[in-house]
Amino acid sequence: MEHRAPYRLAVPALAALLALTTACTGGPVQGRPGASGLRDPFFPKAGNGGYDVDHYELDLDYDPADGQLNGTAVITARARQGLSSFNLDLSGLEVEGVTVQGADARYNRTGNELTVRPAVDLKQGEVFRTEVDYAGKPKTLTDVDGSKEGWISTPGGGAVGVGEPVGSMAWFPGNHHPSDKAAYDITLTVPHGYEAVSNGELRSRTDTGDGRTAFAWHNPEPMASYLATAVVGTYQVTTGRTPSGIPLYEAVAPAEAAASAGKLARLPEMLEWGGRRFGPYPFGTAGAIVLPAKSLTYALETQTKPVFPGAPGEEELVLHELAHQWFGNSVSPKSWKDMWLNEGFATYAEWLWAEDHGGPTAQRHFQAFLDGDTAVDEAADSDWAAFPPASPPGPAHISAAPVYYRGAMVLHRIRQEVGDEKFFDLVRGWTAGHRHGNADTADFTAYAQERTGHDLKGVWDVWLYGKGRPR
Ligand code: ARG
Ligand code: ZN
Repeated sequence: MEHRAPYRLAVPALAALLALTTACTGGPVQGRPGASGLRDPFFPKAGNGGYDVDHYELDLDYDPADGQLNGTAVITARARQGLSSFNLDLSGLEVEGVTVQGADARYNRTGNELTVRPAVDLKQGEVFRTEVDYAGKPKTLTDVDGSKEGWISTPGGGAVGVGEPVGSMAWFPGNHHPSDKAAYDITLTVPHGYEAVSNGELRSRTDTGDGRTAFAWHNPEPMASYLATAVVGTYQVTTGRTPSGIPLYEAVAPAEAAASAGKLARLPEMLEWGGRRFGPYPFGTAGAIVLPAKSLTYALETQTKPVFPGAPGEEELVLHELAHQWFGNSVSPKSWKDMWLNEGFATYAEWLWAEDHGGPTAQRHFQAFLDGDTAVDEAADSDWAAFPPASPPGPAHISAAPVYYRGAMVLHRIRQEVGDEKFFDLVRGWTAGHRHGNADTADFTAYAQERTGHDLKGVWDVWLYGKGRPR
């Protein structure tokens, strides 16, 4: 017992010394600024360093009459380092106040970076809550490839928020990079008469007593921020369940209802088919949002409910966006360079669906691209060989033809090498192994070789990384 006495005596002395030290350095915990970007090879400023978001609670009040958004974002995150400040990505809008752990925080803005300086430094490992109050008319952003994202007014009054690749910062502050996935609760408050739709399950629909309705959407599974959506407008809503019990929620612009019905009616069958081909459907809900025609120039695989710019022209498009729920949404890219893992798989899923439903086999699709045979696939004469899918020449090319078609051809080449049994085992193993996670091309090539036991170097060298047109 005695041997402890000198030690005990030393403690107050040590504490006094520590107090003196912290008095000199200005705080009990020393943090440093979190990085302003995650150094994505294509979007280096996207996302932020020093923390990981667990949950976003977005309360968005939107008035379609004047395009005004009043928002509160409560972001629960874990510090990965001691933080004296950290960034959120936000484009446009007015920030009205920021608190961290309930205390007013200082903040400033440069470009799309909102820098938050908490009153007290955050400790490594600390879970902290940041609230950002903001308002304004959210902007439509033009992507480097010329397509529109962010916040987009839809014909007939209303709007849609979409994010791929870096548009979500136009409607909420966040860690806008696919490597930081989080759960979301998005509540949309809109004037009576409007529907408001987002990801996941509709938990409640409440009359707020002032002529408005609050729609509370709950998305518990991890979601990359580019897959968040908010849709406000006049929609016909249909709910149901698939035979295996997955709740469905479909919102369709009235003018598109007749033309959409046949394609959307196949969703339950597609979900069951996907479950067999790719492994269990990764989310608790499913559905679709059909926007007024020409709202966007593309469909997007927004989590649980893809958006379509008007009635989908072909059932393959519905299948493509559904396939992304496994490939892209559950297994998300580590960086924007890995887009072929999204689009190659979603395109190959279309070929597989056709093969299993009386259309051309995947082999015929593959051959059609080699031959430029547009009778089998309209895109067969596209510039699919322009660059290797694993290394697009830049951010303007992450949604270009080689990412989709040559990406799908990579998968078909693997299937040719290993045979159907090992190929589908590989696909299901891939979705299971990275379920609700992130993966990159190197993860895929290593896993494909390990799981199938085949040396696939020839496929990688020629199809995935090779510069020339493969034959
Ligand atoms: N990921 C979407 C799809 O293929 C397409 C998004 C297009 N976006 C763009 N910026 N080009 O399902
Ligand atoms: Zn796609």
